[in-house]
Amino acid sequence: MGANRVPFLAFTTDSESAGLLRQFIASHGWEGNLVYEGDINTAADFLKLHPSPQVLCVDIISAEATPASLDRLADVCDPGIKVIVSGKVNEYSFYCWLVEAGITNYLLKPFSLHALEAAYRKAIELPSAEISHTPEIKKDAETIAVIGSRGGVGATTVSVNLAWILANHFHQKTALVDFDPQLGTVALAVDLEPSKGLRDALEKPDRIDGLFIDRVMTKAGEYLSVLSTEEPLDDYVNASEASAEALLKQIKPKFSHLIIDLPRVLSPFTRYALKYANHIICVSEYTIMGLRESLRYLDFCRDILKVHSPIFIANQVGLAGKHEIPKEEFEKGLGQKVAFDIPFTLDAHASANSGEIWADTAKNAPATKVLQAIAGHFVDGIEVREQPSKLKGLLSLLRGEK
Ligand SMILES: Nc1ncnc2c1ncn2[C@@H]1O[C@H](COP(=O)(O)OP(=O)(O)OP(=O)(O)O)[C@@H](O)[C@H]1O
Ligand SMILES: [Mg+2]
Repeated sequence: MGANRVPFLAFTTDSESAGLLRQFIASHGWEGNLVYEGDINTAADFLKLHPSPQVLCVDIISAEATPASLDRLADVCDPGIKVIVSGKVNEYSFYCWLVEAGITNYLLKPFSLHALEAAYRKAIELPSAEISHTPEIKKDAETIAVIGSRGGVGATTVSVNLAWILANHFHQKTALVDFDPQLGTVALAVDLEPSKGLRDALEKPDRIDGLFIDRVMTKAGEYLSVLSTEEPLDDYVNASEASAEALLKQIKPKFSHLIIDLPRVLSPFTRYALKYANHIICVSEYTIMGLRESLRYLDFCRDILKVHSPIFIANQVGLAGKHEIPKEEFEKGLGQKVAFDIPFTLDAHASANSGEIWADTAKNAPATKVLQAIAGHFVDGIEVREQPSKLKGLLSLLRGEK
């Protein structure tokens, strides 16, 4: 590295990120003006006239504009520079594309100081990679993994209804995949025969190709396709990380949305889906057990998988009446907002028992309206923001020091 290289330089368009970047710079004891207002193009103009830093952090404006901007940057940067990109594009395929183009990390805005520090550490530890002149961006299915904080909270109900609404209300080409090959209930919930032949492929992932996916997925209407299987309980189904990788790789290019109903037990197979989904929804209930398990999933996502926190949705709200933990207490214990409340709806049981989809049979029910709102966020490409609520009360003991 040249002696006149500064360790770090950032170009950002918003004051919140600028504040965090300054805090980060101060925490490393670096001096001088290292944060500039602007984006990747401003950085390219600047670096035409100045030496490259060791690590550069730049904002991008959109996925579409990034290839040309990266090309400009590649023309002016010194070899060995590490580039961290930050932006609001929340798509796994875009992240993969950036990595392929030689970018060391991507920070989804708004990012935290912790995420910035982790990205920086990764950048300085990685061997040098040239920023390459850019491959084409391909859009893959927006992937939403749904997990229940506890058994029976309604993870499958949420998965099935979201998929149905995306397909039939928003006309999005949607895949609904059950990631529990033995105890999954998706096929039953949508009244379809379980798929045949998946188990063999899960155990030999190199057999999973596009043709196989076309054969094994069952159509449930013009826009919805389902993959759900019911392998015998006395068998051991060896679904590995490689099986999950092969499944997602083949399914994602064929759809605009992919909903994955995940079992709560984490295996390498299910972890892969959590790690590489664009969004994780954690369905819970307002109980102390629901809170404890939600916290464990939250910590797992943040600390072990190092992905974004799940979107928390409370289901069957009102079922236990005054015995439920109040929402604000739950949020206080979790340290995060609950984005949506789905009311307890007796008719859900009737639909479930007759293999009907609730969002179809009760289009105007309050619970369906909430599910439509959740689905709408993913269609618009807007991230789900939690509803504001006042935080008060105890239960923080569940979080330990947090
Ligand atoms: N909002 C609701 N109101 C009333 N009943 C509901 C609601 N949501 C789900 N249910 C019912 O609760 C039961 C369990 O739901 P579901 O199978 O979706 O839970 P799950 O979390 O997927 O369970 P599992 O742990 O077995 O995977 C079903 O009978 C379903 O119809
Ligand atoms: Mg389920």
